[in-house]
Amino acid sequence: MKPYLESTMKAVVVQNYTAIDDVQLAHVPMPELTPGSVRVRVRAVGIGFVDGLKVQGLYQTKDPLPFIPGTEFAGEVDGVADGVSEYSAGMQVMGMVRSGALAEYVVVPMEALRILPDGISPEAGASFRVNYLTAHYALTERAKLQSGEQMLVLGAAGGVGTAAIQLGKIFGARVIAAASTEEKREFALGLGADAAIDYNRPNWREELKDLTENRGCDVIVDPVGGAISLEAFRSIAWNGRHLVIGFAAGNIPALPFNLPLLKGGTLLGVDLAQVPRREPEVYQRTLRDLFRLLGDRRLRPAVGRIFEFERFYDAFKTLAGRRALGKVVVRVAR
Ligand SMILES: NC(=O)c1ccc[n+]([C@@H]2O[C@H](COP(=O)([O-])OP(=O)(O)OC[C@H]3O[C@@H](n4cnc5c(N)ncnc54)[C@H](OP(=O)(O)O)[C@@H]3O)[C@@H](O)[C@H]2O)c1
Repeated sequence: MKPYLESTMKAVVVQNYTAIDDVQLAHVPMPELTPGSVRVRVRAVGIGFVDGLKVQGLYQTKDPLPFIPGTEFAGEVDGVADGVSEYSAGMQVMGMVRSGALAEYVVVPMEALRILPDGISPEAGASFRVNYLTAHYALTERAKLQSGEQMLVLGAAGGVGTAAIQLGKIFGARVIAAASTEEKREFALGLGADAAIDYNRPNWREELKDLTENRGCDVIVDPVGGAISLEAFRSIAWNGRHLVIGFAAGNIPALPFNLPLLKGGTLLGVDLAQVPRREPEVYQRTLRDLFRLLGDRRLRPAVGRIFEFERFYDAFKTLAGRRALGKVVVRVAR
């Protein structure tokens, strides 16, 4: 075991569930290695919409206080517990934890890590797991997306949306990206979407109808919720599948039961957090496929704005303010 050079580190510490503005950087004890663990010097942390909810205590599960937020990270191995032979100091890795990544160092079970593939930056490595796992699982295991089908992605320039665009194209779908601003639609087109649509416009469903030759979309990827979800479902193709992924718009829509009947469509729930426990083989298979695609450079994680560690709160505010393009990243160290 490598001895600590310093006994404290800087970390984002949530003392009470509170507004992002009240969260501070603090000096806390360095995390200790435990059996089977690896200590990583964190370089980049990917921030998602959920991270902001967790800090404010608004997420469905609450972390015991105080806690260090941050789940997806990339960095360099700093030390390993006795008996860990798969990793050694200096290796570049990426990983995911329940919390604790927004810190200079994080200690994780070695199973939580992967080697960062050559040519993938720490920022991209920290922007991969949650969104791409969610989108892959949703499209393959839940919607059973077929090559040649048409797909509508709501919130297309966001974290889950960008992952869905890239994977939809890899799986052979025609992808229509729906987003609220010109900049976001351009971003989505740049990632491979075949067409983009402004779903803030009152007649956007007419436009969608024209784009799909009156058929509607076979698969709808929906991390947005609210009124848009209901409008999208009303435009679904016969035998279409609407994937319920999240409610970034802030409210949970209620679908009248006559709509699935009339449309011949299905509403499908997606909760990545439950997949490792309920479908461990599926989870591992999905992970393997994603890392193969990443290693082959067929997937390039969509990294949006990068904020320095001292300005971590701007990352959260960018997401809450609906301004994120792709994944928002906090750079903890270079
Ligand atoms: N089910 C799962 O397993 C799973 C996994 C990961 C994430 N999620 C959920 O998926 C949702 C999206 O996460 P994300 O990380 O992709 O977020 P994100 O990057 O912020 O993207 C969300 C998109 O929603 C749209 N939106 C509409 N109204 C909004 C509002 N009031 N505030 C913010 N965004 C708004 C925005 O697009 P426009 O401006 O173009 O409308 C935005 O790009 C979250 O609810 C998250 O909890 C679920």
